[in-house]
Amino acid sequence: MVIEIEKLCVTLKEREILEEISLNVSENETVVILGPSGSGKTVLLKTLLGLLTPSKGKLIVLGKDMFNISREELLQLRKKTGMVFQSAALFDSMSVWENVGFYLLEFLRLSEQEIRKRAEQVLLAVGLSDVLDKMPDELSGGMRKRVGIARALISEPELLFYDEPTAGLDVITSTSITKLMKKIHREFKTTDLIVTHDLSIARHLADKIAVINEGKIIETGTWEQLLHSKNEFVKYFLNIGAAYENERF
Ligand SMILES: Nc1ncnc2c1ncn2[C@@H]1O[C@H](COP(=O)(O)OP(=O)(O)O)[C@@H](O)[C@H]1O
Ligand SMILES: [Mg+2]
Repeated sequence: MVIEIEKLCVTLKEREILEEISLNVSENETVVILGPSGSGKTVLLKTLLGLLTPSKGKLIVLGKDMFNISREELLQLRKKTGMVFQSAALFDSMSVWENVGFYLLEFLRLSEQEIRKRAEQVLLAVGLSDVLDKMPDELSGGMRKRVGIARALISEPELLFYDEPTAGLDVITSTSITKLMKKIHREFKTTDLIVTHDLSIARHLADKIAVINEGKIIETGTWEQLLHSKNEFVKYFLNIGAAYENERF
């Protein structure tokens, strides 16, 4: 098991944001946490990255107990985890290659030439060429997202986390990013955890989907299983239930 989550609770400012979350992610699996905004998806990712401290339960990431982890172990863990942030989160004052190579520039003593070469390779893997010396504001939203994915890949992570990878993108760009994520998963053999409200990602990429609402996992299953869910919220969210039909606008 790459990630083991059992009855995990996260309390922020005395409010329980995540309530008894349980979920397992095995090696090379793609797991999607699907839920509306405000349901606790980003809080969950931040907890998995050790940026937020959980209050109760069990959380094991790549064999490390997150309730009892040293600073050194946390740094080791971060090296093995690639994070694709919502809105790409690029440094606007740095060129594309510096953004992509940021981790290597920061943590490894590699020559500039070596880092440029590695950046060029991962940029090609995400479908971008001739962008090394461009600045982020010269790129389209879809290209920026690809650069964000390249940056996550450069450390050759075992685990890849995506936070709302298609939020704010048009339908065509969303589809091309979704296809890219599938290709990256195959080529880099990563274990992927994607948090999103995008049904298309859940449908086309997930081996397993956990539906989250108000900090609780409502149901876990494959897309096919969720289509047959009896849960009102799941039916509503997947647009197939009577709840949606009866909605007044
Ligand atoms: N640092 C924080 N302190 C207090 N509350 C927070 C913090 N971060 C997020 N929250 C609250 O936790 C809930 C879940 O937020 P979030 O995980 O960002 O939702 P999502 O990513 O699913 O849209 C929201 O109600 C949000 O206001
Ligand atoms: Mg979020």
